[in-house]
Amino acid sequence: MSNLEVEGVGTFDVADGKRLVLAIEEDAGVDILHRCGSYAKCTTCRIEYLEGEPQKMTKAELEVLRSRNLLGQVRLSCQALCDHNMKVRVLMTVSSTGLDGPGPHPEETITPEPEWVDKPA
Ligand code: FES
Repeated sequence: MSNLEVEGVGTFDVADGKRLVLAIEEDAGVDILHRCGSYAKCTTCRIEYLEGEPQKMTKAELEVLRSRNLLGQVRLSCQALCDHNMKVRVLMTVSSTGLDGPGPHPEETITPEPEWVDKPA
């Protein structure tokens, strides 16, 4: 188990290796957006790490954040796993945006197939 704290919501035990977007949605019960179905395309699953930011990211995350000038500002919860303790701030939810739903349900494993790279300094 690892420990996930969601700012303003609480702290939750999460199965090791669970996709962070799913832990936020299912374990913490937050209506986080994942409008592209968690394929590193939409960036609506964006979060900030307040503690425990992973130093690796998927190449897909790096590329989409860079293309949208979001690198260094947010991270994608669909491209991360709960394999250590972390504290996060969720930035986009159904209730905060007024959208009609969170998006297609994410698959259990990271999509697209992850290729891990170092987070740029
Ligand atoms: S980028 Fe679309 S859900 Fe993560």
